[in-house]
Amino acid sequence: MAFSASSPKEGMHFSDRANATLFPTDDPTLISFDYGAPGPTLLPTSLITLAAAARFARPDASNALQYGPVTGDKEFRYELARFLRREYGDEDVDMERLVVTSGATQAFFNLVTIFTNPATVFLLEDPTYFLAAKMLRDHRIPSSRMVAIETDAETGIRVDLLSTALDSLSARDPQPPDVAGTYPYVLYLVPTHSNPTGSTVPTPHREEILRLARKHNILVICDDVYQLLHYDTATPPPKRLVAFDDLAGETGGNVISNCSFSKIFAPGARLGWIEAPKRIVDAIKLAAVSYSGGSPNHLTSNLLIPLLHDNHLHTHLTHLRTQYSARLTAMLTALDTHLGSTPGVKIHRPKGGYFVWVELPADVDTTLLRKRVVEGLQSGEVGQQRVTFKQGADFSMSGDGCRNALRLAFAYYEPEVIAEGVRRLALVLRAVGVGV
Ligand SMILES: Cc1ncc(COP(=O)(O)O)c(C=O)c1O
Repeated sequence: MAFSASSPKEGMHFSDRANATLFPTDDPTLISFDYGAPGPTLLPTSLITLAAAARFARPDASNALQYGPVTGDKEFRYELARFLRREYGDEDVDMERLVVTSGATQAFFNLVTIFTNPATVFLLEDPTYFLAAKMLRDHRIPSSRMVAIETDAETGIRVDLLSTALDSLSARDPQPPDVAGTYPYVLYLVPTHSNPTGSTVPTPHREEILRLARKHNILVICDDVYQLLHYDTATPPPKRLVAFDDLAGETGGNVISNCSFSKIFAPGARLGWIEAPKRIVDAIKLAAVSYSGGSPNHLTSNLLIPLLHDNHLHTHLTHLRTQYSARLTAMLTALDTHLGSTPGVKIHRPKGGYFVWVELPADVDTTLLRKRVVEGLQSGEVGQQRVTFKQGADFSMSGDGCRNALRLAFAYYEPEVIAEGVRRLALVLRAVGVGV
């Protein structure tokens, strides 16, 4: 029997089904500051319809449904490079150094597979994007090969501590095993408007990271999914770290910029790109995971060709920046109003990205607090406030740090909802003695 969303089986209503998305967004009474995703009103449903009509009206329509070239559709990469040169303000973006991916998550997983060996040591920011650490565990990498480097909530990874850690690692193991095509060290970073703290690594620190990467033969995987989401129009963000590497020359090969359309277009597109020096792009081309199946998400990348070509994506991104900026302002204003003068509370003020990091007095345990809030969603004083957040410990490399911190995502809701959510959060905090 033919089955379509417009003729649902009796009793099944897919549009309001629980778990229709990754997040339980079907509960209208809950304000969840967990959701690191664009809100529904920001998703480009009309653009995707336009894109599909334009792409499939072309005489070469069937190519979009064929296996794609290994590094991705040439026309898409041409248009993407043009878009990025404009958005980054950097003439050096070259389509030959872009590789199409199915988003930053799967690209990271593949990069670990391609470029590491059983002795590779992984250096991670602490706190870090929790799913990156989990992906390393999924690769069965033991904690003895993961080194946590303390991170500043404003300026990102502590470069001085990174340097000391590398010196002691190389003193312990002066000649790390040289397995062709792999790296002895991988440094995973979210250098711009990070998840979770919103920190951005300043330019001089980026230069120092590159120097260390050259010295110790490190592959720096930059999770750059927030690089284009900068809201402080008075000051541009630092250049992405890959731009400090020798992109075109033979000496380059230490930095990868791992990017995504999830935050600037639609997470459901499952589309992203890697920008990397020639040596790295050549190695990706040779990997079986790239060759078998060709370019990931060839169809979606083809849909984006007309949107990039006609500058719809530029217009959309400009719109998103305005909207996200208003949401960030709404969150910071509400936090200042309700918690600004509370002793022991530190509200970090990112200039972009998706997240605000809040530190609470040392005796507040946000893991326990979240548990109480979530359990109390049915009953109880704290739980009467239908608001959730991500506990700081989720991002801690030891699983036990940042217990007095929480991460609030501001991209999902309209400003009024954000203001209401923060009001509820302040009530939750009052109930456990913060600011009383
Ligand atoms: C730092 C970071 N990397 C990667 C992702 C996911 O990217 P993608 O949807 O492209 O897999 C997210 C989403 O929350 C993120 O915050």
